[in-house]
Amino acid sequence: MIKTRITEKFGIKYPILSAPMGPFYTTELTIATSEAGGLGVLSHVTLLGKNSIKDMKEQIDHVIENTDKPFGVNIRTARVQTDHKILLRKIADWRNKNPKLREQLIYGLTSAGGPRLAGKVWKKSAPDMFHFHVGPALWLVDKIVDSGCDGIVATGTEGGGHQSYEGISTLVLVQQVARKYPDKLMVACGGFSSPEGVAAGLAMGADAIAMGTRFIASNQSEFHPNYKALIPPATARDTLLTTGGFGPIRLLKNKYCIEHGEVISKQEKIAQELSYDVAGYIDDLKKYMIVYTEGDVENGAIPVGQTVGLIDSILDVDDIISGFTKEAEKILKNLCSNIT
Ligand SMILES: Cc1cc2nc3c(=O)[nH]c(=O)nc-3n(C[C@H](O)[C@H](O)[C@H](O)COP(=O)(O)O)c2cc1C
Repeated sequence: MIKTRITEKFGIKYPILSAPMGPFYTTELTIATSEAGGLGVLSHVTLLGKNSIKDMKEQIDHVIENTDKPFGVNIRTARVQTDHKILLRKIADWRNKNPKLREQLIYGLTSAGGPRLAGKVWKKSAPDMFHFHVGPALWLVDKIVDSGCDGIVATGTEGGGHQSYEGISTLVLVQQVARKYPDKLMVACGGFSSPEGVAAGLAMGADAIAMGTRFIASNQSEFHPNYKALIPPATARDTLLTTGGFGPIRLLKNKYCIEHGEVISKQEKIAQELSYDVAGYIDDLKKYMIVYTEGDVENGAIPVGQTVGLIDSILDVDDIISGFTKEAEKILKNLCSNIT
């Protein structure tokens, strides 16, 4: 058994979390991950704020009807994510009204914007829930620590989906955070999809590892079979950073990805947001989702990380969580036994 500060504090068996993957549903994945002894994390699925409160409540209710284990939730606090303020408050309210939910919903992860509002709301109304925020570079991790977050999800640029403009690798970032903030809880994320990765992340000082792409390619995730099927044959060279709704996004190269072109600068992106063309945005969003909804792998977006190059099969969530941790244990024991 590998014990870490996170397995102890979260009350989970294995130091593995499923990464949130909105706007796609990861409800079944969350249940499977938590049931397998890791920590499942629900995604923030709505992009326009429409029906988002009802949707999140339904997801949460579904999780607690199907597992008694702990789980987490992600809220994207980006400028364009208009529902985040109300969702932060609602999550605290729901927890306070339902003892089962309060016991199980132990982790709130914010991302894509700032951590401060969530910190304020949750410290006051959900002080027993661990608040983590995604940090893609050390200077941003400094701000997360200043804001009083309980922990950091250190996420490097090789990961799938939205990325920051910083372009720092997980390898460098995790070591930087461990060195500067040894007392802070840290989850390492971006590029992990193997037992070797789990062992390396823990050895660098992380308390747990979060994986996105690896869990898409699992039997229990809700992703379309056509989406999953693209992952095992893909190589590490097959992804590209292009411009997404919140900034750079790492996608598998296809027609949608190539049409979206290279990453534009932060200033250009802000200008684009200010002159928002809502109809164009909705149209692009429909295209973005078409792989998920219809399995159209050419005209829709396929967010995945460079770690596709390490994944060669679709696995059960249970095998990923317990199998990878046990294998990581062997790797670490073996290394220790070679030390004389
Ligand atoms: C399909 C997809 C959707 C994602 N959506 C979100 C999201 O809504 N919120 C978020 O914080 N991160 C999101 N991410 C990033 C993941 O949480 C995580 O950082 C990333 O998958 C880690 O890299 P990996 O894919 O190499 O494991 C997404 C990633 C993917 C692949």
